Amino acid sequence: MSLAEVVNVNEYEARAKQKLSKMFFDYFSTGAEDQWTLQENIRAFGRIRIRPRVLVDVSDVDLSTKVLGYKVSMPIMVAPTGHQKLAHAEGELATARAAAAEDTVMVLSSSANTSLEDVASIGSGIRFFQLYIFKDREYVAEVVRRAERAGYKAIVLTGDVPRLGNRENDIKNRFTLPAHLTVANFVGIGGGTSILTSKTNESSLAAFANAQFDSSLTWKDIAWLKGITSLPILIKGILTGEDAVLAVRSGVAGIMVSNHGARQLDFAPASVSVLEEVVQAVQGRVPVFLDGGVRRGSDVLKALALGAAGVFVGRPVVYGLAVDGEAGVRKVLKILRDEFQVSMMLAGCRRIQDITRSHVLTESELPC
Ligand code: FNR
Repeated sequence: MSLAEVVNVNEYEARAKQKLSKMFFDYFSTGAEDQWTLQENIRAFGRIRIRPRVLVDVSDVDLSTKVLGYKVSMPIMVAPTGHQKLAHAEGELATARAAAAEDTVMVLSSSANTSLEDVASIGSGIRFFQLYIFKDREYVAEVVRRAERAGYKAIVLTGDVPRLGNRENDIKNRFTLPAHLTVANFVGIGGGTSILTSKTNESSLAAFANAQFDSSLTWKDIAWLKGITSLPILIKGILTGEDAVLAVRSGVAGIMVSNHGARQLDFAPASVSVLEEVVQAVQGRVPVFLDGGVRRGSDVLKALALGAAGVFVGRPVVYGLAVDGEAGVRKVLKILRDEFQVSMMLAGCRRIQDITRSHVLTESELPC
């Protein structure tokens, strides 16, 4: 089948599987333990119904919106995913070019194989930097300063990795990074990243993370982060109203409702099923974003109707990258954009602000 025949982003997964080694495909595709949350991220969108309004003039539809004050062409953005050179030789550079070309935000992962300066060197595009806080705080502070100097517009602090979740496939495969790749922005940390390229009896990803990540992180560390950067901070990995309140109190500029693509705590709820709880707790004080299981433009409409200011997409972008590099990522973003536009028009929404809570029914609201 030629690429022209790809009609939805799910089709990229099987194609990526054909292209990648089992070790790398498993790294991208699987989740933690029983992978209940992995399936639930998708199923939960399937339980939401859209309430379409008809006879609305949708001859002129505008998908553009603002994220932290920056105009983007659509509320569909690129989530941070690590080790993109395992998917394609051009890795994060290809993804960054595609996101810029589609006029949307890319979040660069702390686990990128490309330095943040190299990614920034492509020029155009709005990029955020996703941050893991390692035990070596001085190193982390320097990376944050580098991101600020290189023009990144926000720090996305990932809060749900005090240690790595049990990713059984990575353990079975004894995941290691090929010798030519590094965690490019943290090469010197912990005496170098050799641990990621050396064979161990476990996933070397887990060995690296569990040795280097600071599992003592608390809300007071947001104050530390605010003290070393003037960039706005988004907190990623919030799944409860309680934590959303603490996040707002700690002074973050936005919240990302996320279960890390089901790679951390299995049996954590699907992100979309707790979105409204978070939105209600936040009471409009900061924007709330969502990732996890977004595979269709209709999913985007559902998330926005439940109060999200935008969504981020992880695996489909990586699969597009694996299959066709920059062009593959662009196609994934284009498909999602087109589907979102169709969903908006068929639901009777001309602008992003027209998408309201009354456009969806959640499971408890479904007629018996
Ligand atoms: C991730 N995710 C992630 N998150 C993060 O904060 N830092 C990271 O380095 C990574 N790396 C990473 C690698 C891979 C292969 C995946 C699939 C995911 C989580 C990611 O940002 C996002 O939360 C999920 O991917 C969203 O779910 P979907 O879109 O993949 O269903």
